[in-house]
Amino acid sequence: MTESADEKAAQNSEHRRIDGKALAARLRRELKARAEAAGIIPCLAVIRVGEDPASRTYVGAKIKACAEAGFASRHIALPEDVSEEALLEEIRRLNSDADVHGILVQLPLPRHIGEHRVLAAIRPDKDADGFHPLNAGRLFLGLDAPVPCTPRGILRLLDEERISLRGKHAVVIGRSNIVGKPVASLLLARDATVTICHSKTPNLAEEVRRADVLVSAVGKAGLVRPEWLKPGAVVIDVGINRTPEGRLTGDADPACAEVASAITPVPGGVGPMTVAMLLENTFELAMAAKGKNGAPDA
Ligand code: GUN
Repeated sequence: MTESADEKAAQNSEHRRIDGKALAARLRRELKARAEAAGIIPCLAVIRVGEDPASRTYVGAKIKACAEAGFASRHIALPEDVSEEALLEEIRRLNSDADVHGILVQLPLPRHIGEHRVLAAIRPDKDADGFHPLNAGRLFLGLDAPVPCTPRGILRLLDEERISLRGKHAVVIGRSNIVGKPVASLLLARDATVTICHSKTPNLAEEVRRADVLVSAVGKAGLVRPEWLKPGAVVIDVGINRTPEGRLTGDADPACAEVASAITPVPGGVGPMTVAMLLENTFELAMAAKGKNGAPDA
């Protein structure tokens, strides 16, 4: 028997846990099949500077996901003290390599390197993260552009859970270029009323209380208190924090799950979706390149 959308939603009402891990796995399988059907092998180049343990973990996950989806990848690890010019030279080399479809520079970069100059050096049509100023501007204007991976993953999770945004109040905590600002643009484009909060917001609890959909992207364990939430709110927890015991935990206090109608767990919520959306961006860049260069199998 097949369930209607409404039946599925009704059964799962109450306090749903949004399974990003399962959705990401399905999307990765679908992307593998789509690339095979299109006769392309998308190739992602990932540049990491220095030995930050979190960056090493994230980059490792991205390279592994490429391999599992049948994508090609290049992993360029540069020393912490690499000059900005040497990094820019590496980007120029990848820009002109026709076998490379997507380029990503893992952030944060060491302080002696100008992040904006580096991101602006990536060819906009190879910008797997959507962080080039041209693409960030296009996203803000509602034009076609590669969409930053975490915000794209958040919207995909909401869509998959059939959580409508039109006329809803969305509150975003965090104003980073990676998550806060682009996710706010995307929520606005879906007709949500959006409030962006940050470290200088005077009364965070009061802002959060208005949220039908809350996105927290701060990186502070237990920041979001259950008593701040409107009962039935949807909580998208982008925080990845380590407890003193070494466990991963999000920004939302665990008791938020008892108040929210749906919440993303940490780990297993937004994180895996970021990687799946990176593959999707790379696939789309490879398809666009194929369109420009002529189909290899035509
Ligand atoms: N650092 C944390 N998140 C990201 C991301 O999505 N892309 C890049 N390049 N660096 C990050």
